[in-house]
Amino acid sequence: MPDTAPVTVIDHPLVQHKLAILRDKNTDVRSFRDLCREISMLMAFEAMRHLPLEEVTVETPVAPARVRRLSGKKLALIAILRAGLVMVDGILTLVPAARVGHIGLYRDPQTLAPVQYYNKLPSDVAERDVFLLDPMLATGGSAVAAVSILKGLGAKAIRLLCILGAPEGIAAVHEAHPDVEIILAAQDERLNEHGYIVPGLGDAGDRIYGTR
Ligand code: URA
Repeated sequence: MPDTAPVTVIDHPLVQHKLAILRDKNTDVRSFRDLCREISMLMAFEAMRHLPLEEVTVETPVAPARVRRLSGKKLALIAILRAGLVMVDGILTLVPAARVGHIGLYRDPQTLAPVQYYNKLPSDVAERDVFLLDPMLATGGSAVAAVSILKGLGAKAIRLLCILGAPEGIAAVHEAHPDVEIILAAQDERLNEHGYIVPGLGDAGDRIYGTR
């Protein structure tokens, strides 16, 4: 039995405060989108703690200084369409050199299995530290399929960043991909009979884009 990577809940007061507003059904589309962006950025700040640093010397106006900077680690942000798109921009403000990829999946109405309809990924994704982005980890079907696609291309270091996660989705990812760390702003109670996270925040895509 392989070791299972951790589930990390970002319990920072700012994340929790913004999440409280995000969950509120009276939060409007524009605020919802802004909050998703801000929460994603704050989550990424924590999720990138493992990035290695290297020591170099820079000349300040006063004297040489030994400083630490990121050691050129290559990153990829992969958004699961369509809701995952909202997480990209906030994270890019922290790591503007990261490459961005997209994976589109829909659920086959007969088999209920995820089917890929779009895939545009960095050609060197295998060499990058991958952050897979989807605000809602519900059944885990899309996340499991997206990780399989990335692993099929040789990606080895994959972290899944979701704003909310249900126990069912976490279990599905752990079962299929025990090496993938899951990073959440909150773990909720369960899924309801329609596959919504409870208490959740509703349909993230509809609330981001003002659809339905
Ligand atoms: N997707 C959503 O947008 N919301 C849920 O609650 C579950 C899946």
